[in-house]
Amino acid sequence: MRMYDLILKKRNGGELTKPEIDYMIRNYTDGKIPDYQMAAMMMAIYFRGMNERETADLTLAMADSGDRLDLSDIPGIKVDKHSTGGVGDKTSMALGPMTAACGLPVAKMSGRGLGHTGGTIDKLESFPGFRTELSEEQFRRQVRDIGIAIMGQTADLAPADKKLYALRDVTGTVDNMSLIASSIMSKKLAAGADAIVLDVKTGSGAFMKEEADSRALAEAMVDIGRKTGRKMAAVISDMDQPLGRAVGNALEVREAIDTLRGQGPRDFTELCLTLGSQMLLCGERAKTPEEARELLQEAIRSGRALEKLADMVEAQGGSREDVYHPENLANASLQIRITAPDSGYIRHIACDEIGMCSLMLGGGREKKEDVIDLTVGFELCRKVGEYVEKGGCLAVMHANDPDRAAAARERFLNAVEIGAEKPAERPLIVDIR
Ligand code: URA
Repeated sequence: MRMYDLILKKRNGGELTKPEIDYMIRNYTDGKIPDYQMAAMMMAIYFRGMNERETADLTLAMADSGDRLDLSDIPGIKVDKHSTGGVGDKTSMALGPMTAACGLPVAKMSGRGLGHTGGTIDKLESFPGFRTELSEEQFRRQVRDIGIAIMGQTADLAPADKKLYALRDVTGTVDNMSLIASSIMSKKLAAGADAIVLDVKTGSGAFMKEEADSRALAEAMVDIGRKTGRKMAAVISDMDQPLGRAVGNALEVREAIDTLRGQGPRDFTELCLTLGSQMLLCGERAKTPEEARELLQEAIRSGRALEKLADMVEAQGGSREDVYHPENLANASLQIRITAPDSGYIRHIACDEIGMCSLMLGGGREKKEDVIDLTVGFELCRKVGEYVEKGGCLAVMHANDPDRAAAARERFLNAVEIGAEKPAERPLIVDIR
């Protein structure tokens, strides 16, 4: 078999067989197929697509490209959660401690930023000293001892996805249903959870912008999970504007902490309660969504959820003081108010564009090797449906480089549509499946 022939086959609209997919993934993981050939294959898949069988075979080939984590020594049902990626999506940082405080063991492997979206692992590194690389033994021990650990995907876990994820990020091949479904599900299958709750985004900030595509993605992943014996739930949630008000690594950490204090933005808090309820139901910690919601709210009110985050930060090398005093986290040198050019309602915020603005400030990667500036980003003063006077605040931009700030400001203004008519409200939770 030759990779060259497989690229041609897919480029010409052919269907890859299981042995061909296994060959491609095995040899790419081992470094025998170079990045440039795999990039060409990703682009061919992007344009030609994969059918259900190819997607399932790709998922299993990637899940089996390395070790599978054994979580059987951690008592209870292990429930994992994964988001398809968004802007301002700091959910795992709040949801992990909330559900752990309700007694659900949280053993979570998270990713770095991809395309215009941020990643939990980058965000957590805003805590000075925080280690996102743990050995599997440390990871398991921490979950047994304090009930929660969040770490980066280890090199041994779905290494094919790790390589491919970074390659897709810089070759314009992220937003394809089969590639997203296989990427997410390969990691989740290898990470050893018994149940998986998916947060599938839809709208201008999501990889799948149309609701029908998001539903199809949710179904594809739920199907793969169920076929491999996992309990599955999927929430389809709106990502047509940034989630919450903060976009940017350290800024999002602060907003997650506010949320764990019960002072978070309404939309973000609601999403955490919805996903958390699904997790508690899958983990058999609650019998009804209402009971689950009440348990999560009590974990916030009592301070136990915030304490769990502090426990985790401390266990992974950071200082719990930073959780209780997030104002101590590093700040960008420039804080610039972006003001409204006209009065009116915020009719639309092109969410992926806000992600790109944050990336331009240095908050994301343009190349695989780029180092992220954790301090930059935006705090939105207005969200869709809110009124602003001419000259009123649209956002506070946090930046370190005046030239980048000027370019990002212009792009930000182009991404926000202001008009006389109040727009119709989009539901945050589109569906639960
Ligand atoms: N999240 C992932 O883990 N993989 C993707 O391809 C997209 C989002």
